[in-house]
Order: sequence, then C-alpha cells, then structure tokens
Amino acid sequence: MARITASVYTSHVPAIGAAMDLGKTQEDYWKPLFAGYDFSKQWMKDNKPDVIFLVYNDHATAFSLDFIPTFAIGTAAEYQPADEGWGPRPVPKVVGHPELASHIAQSVIQQDFDLTIVNKMDVDHGLTVPLSLMCGEKDPKEGAWPCPVIPFAVNVVQYPIPSGQRCFNLGQAIRKAVESYDEDLNVHIWGTGGMSHQLQGARAGLINADWDNKFLDRLIAEPAELAKVPHIDYVREAGSEGIELVMWLIARGAMADVAGGKPPKVAHRFFHVPASNTAVGHLILENN
Ligand code: DHB
Ligand code: FE
Repeated sequence: MARITASVYTSHVPAIGAAMDLGKTQEDYWKPLFAGYDFSKQWMKDNKPDVIFLVYNDHATAFSLDFIPTFAIGTAAEYQPADEGWGPRPVPKVVGHPELASHIAQSVIQQDFDLTIVNKMDVDHGLTVPLSLMCGEKDPKEGAWPCPVIPFAVNVVQYPIPSGQRCFNLGQAIRKAVESYDEDLNVHIWGTGGMSHQLQGARAGLINADWDNKFLDRLIAEPAELAKVPHIDYVREAGSEGIELVMWLIARGAMADVAGGKPPKVAHRFFHVPASNTAVGHLILENN
C-alpha cells in the first residue's frame, strides 16, 4: 500500500527562483534565507520519496479568468516549467505519476470533492520554487527532480476560494486515496504558498510575523482548530496573498494524527523575513 510518510510546508516567491537561477544565493540579502533550507536539502536525500503530491497555486499562468478550477489534479506524464514573462526557469521538466494521480482523482471525487482533471499544463513558480528550495539547483541538461510529482493546483487567486476547513477535509480524503493504492510507495505531501504578504493596494508590503508564527504553532499542534479560521482573518492578518496559506491545511489534513494516529515529529522549522514582499515559513513534519 502507498503511504504518506511526511509533509513539507514552504513559501514560494518568484524572486527566490530568480536568485537561484542567477547565482545570487550567497549574496547578503539571500544567504540567510537559503541557509534555512540546508537541512531540508539533506533531509530530502535521506528521506527520498517515491512521489511528491505537491499542493500549490497557479498564478494565472496555466489557468486564467477563462476557466477557474477550485481544485485541479495533474494526471499528465510530464509538465514543462512555465514562461511567466522572463522565459521558462532553467530547471528540469516535472515528471508526473499518471497512475497514482488517476487513482487519487477517482478516490477523491468519489469522496465527494470536485476535482478538475488536467492532462496538459505548464507549472509556474508556485510549483517550481518549492522544488528548487527543497532539492537545490538542478541543471535541466544534467539533472532531474528526485522523483515524480503530482501537481495539485488550488484556486487562491480569484474569489470565491475554498475555506481552510474544506482544504483540511480534502487532505483527509487524499490520505485515504493514497492508502488505497496497491503499490508500495513512499509519498510526501507538500503544502506551499504564504506566509503573510500583500502585493497590491494600500497595504502592499504587509508582513505579520507574529500571526505567521502562531499559524506555524497551530498547524503543528491543533490543525483541526486552525482549519476553522475564516478566510477574512487570513486576509486581514496576513494580507491578500496570505490566503495562500489555506493550501498548507491540505497537506496537514493528510497526516496520520488527523485520522487518530500519533502526532507528527517536527523535523525542521524555519521562518525568515523578507524574501521580496513575503514572509517565508517552512516546516517538515514526519509521521511517527
Ligand atoms: C511574491 C510572492 C508571491 O507569492 C507571488 O506569487 C508573487 C510575488 C513576492 O513577494 O514578490
Ligand atoms: Fe504566490
């Protein structure tokens, strides 16, 4: 049977990808940020998954106002890094896992969540920056990402967006789906985006480190209570783009303790301000 053994949480910021692609990671501005991921890159090598189920948001790259899926699962064999205006990032293509993705789609839709099936799309910084942070620089000519990735896109851009509670419940359905897959696979689930940031309007530049750190505390210790936080609290406290944090509740809902198992082990916790306009938070939780 396939099992979810760990969850990873990390912010994404396009400038982080650019810093890596342009060789700026050791500059004073970026050094402390990337230092927070040294542990994580080693952890990825020591705990190599067979598949990463990567929850992220598309930023009007693959999707647009033409069609707006609330939850979209990638069932393709591969995905190319998207051109977001400066050409595609020089990182490897993302290899998918169509068999497991199709199984999860079947199971989760039968558990009453409406997923959009995506057989072709490019993936933007929401997906490639977390991969770069966790796996390090990868030259597309030589390297590949360490394992297949199932992209799972959540609409947190165009209202109405899903609640934290629905995301948390969806995570539980994903765990059941993974555990009903016959092949022995070690699956990691990632929740990405956040933490506090606002990119537009009068409050552009907003950061709320206290709120972010309380979010990390509660995500670890009382996720079911955290799931009840209404959307307006995210926007008021963490800014208009801070709402990306609801995606972390999908990954957290898939952990064993939510289904009556033991609380996860906190393998790593990191917080850093700023990266561009964003407060960067990062957690690695292992199922016991
Ligand atoms: C920034 C952060 C984001 O989450 C994003 O999608 C785009 C830009 C930023 O801080 O610059
Ligand atoms: Fe974003």
